Amino acid sequence: MIAAIQEATQFIQAQVAQKPQVGIILGTGLGGLIQEIDIAHTIEYDDIPHFPISTVESHHGRLIFGTLAGKPVVCMQGRFHFYEGYTMAQVTFPVRVMKQLGIEKLFVSNAAGGLNPAYQISELMILQDHINLLPANPLTGPNLDEMGVRFPDMLGAYDAEMITMALEIAAEHQIKAHQGVYVSVPGPNLETPAEYRFLRIIGADAVGMSTVPEVIVARQMGLPVFAISVITDLCFPEALKHVTVEEVIAAAQKAEPSLTRLMRELIAKS
Ligand code: HPA
Repeated sequence: MIAAIQEATQFIQAQVAQKPQVGIILGTGLGGLIQEIDIAHTIEYDDIPHFPISTVESHHGRLIFGTLAGKPVVCMQGRFHFYEGYTMAQVTFPVRVMKQLGIEKLFVSNAAGGLNPAYQISELMILQDHINLLPANPLTGPNLDEMGVRFPDMLGAYDAEMITMALEIAAEHQIKAHQGVYVSVPGPNLETPAEYRFLRIIGADAVGMSTVPEVIVARQMGLPVFAISVITDLCFPEALKHVTVEEVIAAAQKAEPSLTRLMRELIAKS
């Protein structure tokens, strides 16, 4: 694993001169931030040794290097989900590589279902905490001591300072941004009404199929994390209806301008 991470890192470093300071993972339908990047270099996932290959059609698998709001960034356009059949090691491999490339902070976006009845479609939710209901953990197996400790604690997994800054930026620009708890589920089916009720009862405000593995690995490596969900469908009893992936993507795209603005300003300030 360490050798694979090093090989991938060296392959990238041979092509990209600038050390990225910020890592970004973009969620389903949320590629708009890329338009804000002054792109210096793009590398397809398929070309990077040991990188998994993205299979979801709504994702393009490539690493984008450039400058965003004056900061050197590396951005994952397309991420790997457990439901696609990847192992947790594969899902989180790019995060380990981005850390080796030199990132000092990680920014993550995702599409999620709203469990909190105060939420509306296309609003944003800043993650203040998570509940992990995925059936596997990226840290299972022999510990990579070079990367971090065996039992990383998850207190303050989501950087409090960045949350405060993001809430200030949102208020300044009249962007509706909640703060809440994200629960990760394996998918790929959406949840039953009983499951949504259960997820709400255990303390979640939004539900999705990503983010938590990447955050666990980032925290093990000591990276401060900021993560944000776009609410793409409503999952409380009064609002439940059939949902298609097209509707999820359309809701994500509607939120994109505000999400992009918030992310750009937060990256500029942090
Ligand atoms: N459940 C799980 N994941 C999701 C949902 C949902 O309702 N919406 C978007 N991602």
